[in-house]
Order: sequence, then structure tokens, then C-alpha cells
Amino acid sequence: MTIKTVMVIGAGQMGSGIAQVCAQAGYNVFLHDMNEAAIEKGLANIEKLLTRAVEKERITHDEKENTLSKLTKSTQLQDAKTCDLVIEAVVENMDVKTKVFQQLDEITPKHAILASNTSSLPITEIAAVTDRPDQVIGMHFMNPVPVMKLVEIIRGLQTSDETYEAIESMTNNINKTPVEVNDFPGFVSNRILMPMINEAIYTVYEGVASPEDVDTVMKLGMNHPMGPLTLADFIGLDTCLYIMEVLYEGFGDSKYRPCPLLRKYVKAGWLGKKSGRGFYEYN
Ligand code: NAI
Repeated sequence: MTIKTVMVIGAGQMGSGIAQVCAQAGYNVFLHDMNEAAIEKGLANIEKLLTRAVEKERITHDEKENTLSKLTKSTQLQDAKTCDLVIEAVVENMDVKTKVFQQLDEITPKHAILASNTSSLPITEIAAVTDRPDQVIGMHFMNPVPVMKLVEIIRGLQTSDETYEAIESMTNNINKTPVEVNDFPGFVSNRILMPMINEAIYTVYEGVASPEDVDTVMKLGMNHPMGPLTLADFIGLDTCLYIMEVLYEGFGDSKYRPCPLLRKYVKAGWLGKKSGRGFYEYN
């Protein structure tokens, strides 16, 4: 199938990045959010990033204008009726996501593929609320989307080969590298990353080393570009805890037990960079 028109649902930090890379690759993109101010903010952010790219001579002025002309603000989910692909990037909440997928199943044309950018929720369960589980798939982009090359493509239990191939080819078209993954808790990226972050938190909790020293060990000793606690603050400690809960519940194995210190910080509202305080303080 040919994908020409895409809707991105959720104009937050992930959705606006996904809309930008799709528009830059020439797709017609509707950027939809239930909150109109979020769409305005998302579009303004895209424009800012493109202007910076022109200044740094990474793209031309014409490329910037072409990209912007491909983006359409959408306040009505009904706009999805002309779309070949919808990429959902709303909050990480199963009830919210399944409601969106049920509506999309009614609105979109029969051939349309429905993708989710979920970082941890089962694609098979999301697909099951639609009448087209073979056309539901995970497209897990990395943050920040315009910079990071990887897209984990998650096959639900019933995802068809045709759907997988269309999404793999689209991922290549937007200049990203696809990796095929089966639907298991945390997929590949968060199954490996989050236990490492959780273990880093345990080393602080058990008094083995300070957050700064844990990060220095991993940066200078393992050549990681960013220490695990800095990364946890960047991702959001609530998100880290949420994903650890998914792993703990999904595998039923105590090795995924979220560190009590992580729970404590989240309860205190120390969510990392976005709240001004996590393992580090931010202005
Ligand atoms: P965000 O909070 O920045 O944006 C979410 C947006 O969805 C908000 O603008 C909100 O108004 C909108 N929204 C909520 N419910 C809606 C609905 N029913 N209809 C339309 N719009 C709705 O969240 P963020 O960080 O962009 O995450 C979005 C998704 O991407 C989540 O599933 C998250 O797990 C996933 N993800 C996040 C990553 C990250 O580093 N933040 C990385 C990879 C995936």
C-alpha cells in the first residue's frame, strides 16, 4: 500500500517531533490534539527547530517552507477519514489509547494502518479493541525524534506482514532505522535500558555512590554519552517508574522490582527535569 497522508495524534514532545519528520519526508501530515494550545505549541516548536536547521545550513529555506506547508492543524479527529496512516502519541494510559483506537477504527478508511508510539503498553491489547488487529502496529520513536535514528517497530500478535512491510518502508523513507521487535513488556529498548536505570537508582539508595559518581562511572567507564541518572531525569521519573511496573507485572520476576527510592521521588513530585527536581536540581 502507498502511504501519502498521515495523522499524528498528540502534539506533545513526541507527537510534534513525529509530525516534523513525516512532513520533512514529504508526507501530508495532520497534527491533532484534543487541546488546541498543544497543537499551536507543537507547530511553533517545529518552526523553531526548522529555523535553527536553516541557520546551521543543515536544510535550505525552501525545505523549511515545504515542510511547514505539509503540516495541517487538526482539531477534529474526523480529519483521519482521509488518512492512510495514523500514529498515536497521546499519554501513556491504556484507557485513553484504547478509546482513541476505537474511534479511529470507525473513522479511518478500511485500508488505513493504525500505529501507536507507546513506550511500554502491549500492542496486542490495543489492537484487540479494533476490527483490524492485523493493521495495528507499534512505532516506538526515540526522544528527541528529529535527532534519534531508531524506530522500534512492534508486531502485535495479529499484525500482518503487509502492515509490517508498509511501516518498515515508511520508516526508511523518513530517514530512520527500523528494528523489528515482538510484543513483549518493554519491547527491546526499555527492557534493557530501564533495569539499568533502576539498578543505578539502587546503587544510590544503598549508599554505594552518589548520583554524580554513578553517572561518572557510566560516562567515563562505559562511554555512555549521558549517565543513567541524568537520563532518568530527562525521561521523567514517573515514566521510568511506570515502565518498571510494566516489566515487573509483565514478567512477574523480582529482578524488575522498582527501587523504593524511585517510588519515593515520584511520590514527592520529584519527576526529573520537567518538574525542576529529580536526582539533580534544574532551574
Ligand atoms: P506529552 O504529555 O508531551 O504529550 C501528550 C499529548 O497528548 C498532550 O498534548 C495531550 O493534550 C494529548 N492528548 C492526551 N489525550 C488525548 C486524546 N484523547 N486525544 C488527543 N490528544 C490527546 O507526552 P509525550 O512525552 O509526547 O508521550 C506521548 C507518548 O509517547 C506516550 O505514549 C509515551 O509513552 C510515548 N513515548 C514517550 C517518550 C519520551 O521520552 N517522552 C519516548 C518514546 C515514547
